[in-house]
Amino acid sequence: PPYLLPLNNTVELPEKTRAALDSIEQQFDLPTKKLEEIVEQMLWEFGKGLSEQPTKETKDTFMPMIPTYLQHIPSGKETGTFLALDLGGTNLRVCEVTLLGDSKWTMRQQKYKVSQALKMGEVAALFDYIANSVDQFLTEIGTTGDPNEKLYLGFTFSFPVAQTALAKGTLINWTKGFECKNAVGKDVAQLLQDALDRKHIHVKCSALVNDTAGTLMAAAYERGDCLCGGIFGTGTNGAYVEDVAKITKESKTKEELEQAKKDGLDKMVVNTEWGAFDNERVVMPFTIFDSRVDRISINPRKQAFEKMISGMYLGEVTRNVVLHLVDAQVIFKGFSSKSLNAHYGLDTAIMSALEAFSLPNSDSAADPIASIRKCITKDLGIADELVSDADCVAVARVSEIVGTRGCRLSACALAATIKQTGNDKSDKEVKFGLDGSLVEFYPRFDQRVKDALRELLGEDVVKRVVIDLAKDGSGVGAALCAQAAMAMEAKAKH
Ligand code: GLC
Repeated sequence: PPYLLPLNNTVELPEKTRAALDSIEQQFDLPTKKLEEIVEQMLWEFGKGLSEQPTKETKDTFMPMIPTYLQHIPSGKETGTFLALDLGGTNLRVCEVTLLGDSKWTMRQQKYKVSQALKMGEVAALFDYIANSVDQFLTEIGTTGDPNEKLYLGFTFSFPVAQTALAKGTLINWTKGFECKNAVGKDVAQLLQDALDRKHIHVKCSALVNDTAGTLMAAAYERGDCLCGGIFGTGTNGAYVEDVAKITKESKTKEELEQAKKDGLDKMVVNTEWGAFDNERVVMPFTIFDSRVDRISINPRKQAFEKMISGMYLGEVTRNVVLHLVDAQVIFKGFSSKSLNAHYGLDTAIMSALEAFSLPNSDSAADPIASIRKCITKDLGIADELVSDADCVAVARVSEIVGTRGCRLSACALAATIKQTGNDKSDKEVKFGLDGSLVEFYPRFDQRVKDALRELLGEDVVKRVVIDLAKDGSGVGAALCAQAAMAMEAKAKH
């Protein structure tokens, strides 16, 4: 892949630096052929996940492919005011969303920090904190909804949940640094409702939704038809619209499938949990740096795909490569720093800053070395006198190499979704609604993804692919799910 930072223009690189970078580049390289193998394996896992209920023995050999019970894709005409809760990204968010019915919405939101202690403690404490935050939101910000009516809440819970109904689902396992006790196997919608009830908060948790499914719903509400909602943020995952007939693990009879078709219920959103792709390491390009990140993470041998792609881990992989260059005495005269030594001490946001030179017309583009140097001394805490210009080039290049691999792997997930749904052979527009810090802030994310997609599927297909930033999709999506639940209840009453 073409890296943007030129290695030989303004800065003379010592032979040792050049050789070290060449070697890193080689280890992280993903030629088209490798991308194709990854897509093939992913399609195999799609198929397995749709047809087999995972068992203790097989659960790491294919992705969960969870049916979400979402069968009505929004039209844009939905209306009403709902609460939305969003847990599983960087913060807990409480939002009040008003759907205006013309594909537009308004939102008032408040963010609440989820401490490390809450992430690792008893699950009851976490849900009490969530209920408290809802309470605080309602007291401080209030709601514009009817005070005499119970408020409907959509709960975006961005972890793998085995869903059995729109507002029912048990946690399969934690991801992304959460490890609360006594949560796996519990119904998380019930945990929330109990916590709300304990505090006498007049709110009903009426829908449980993964952030990817929420993003898909929001994108469809705003812009019409959408094939797939994807998150490239703290974690990564995607949900897409599948034929119910292909979800064979649900073992529907022929008659049931025919009836579903008549009722317009022949499609369902499936939450792939592609972050767990290739946990068995069949095709993924593990370097020693990835193995290290995995080994000392709290969920070793899990979320293999996520650990090479998402915001929680990209910085950590980069940190390990940078440390390797330090230890090999290639950069910083062999000295490190406190933050560089700390587990997760290099935030993925630093990669965005390091690579800001690739943003046209940015200040960093004018003098890349000066801005990279500032980042190394300020954010990574390396003393200025230890940093040569060549070191600046090396660190930014490492970031570019690790990030580019992440983007190319991300493209594999999109390509697999396109192929799984036959959209590589159609002539329709293929829409993705994507959200997350990488989509929003990582320089050239969509360009790098599209370049790899082009290698995989060809220009003719890529021309039809539309990648929309579905900002705040999970909040709006949760509101749309709460709306769907309310509509279903009203229908049942009549
Ligand atoms: C992790 C979670 C998944 C979520 C994704 C993005 O992969 O397991 O449920 O959708 O992060 O937040």
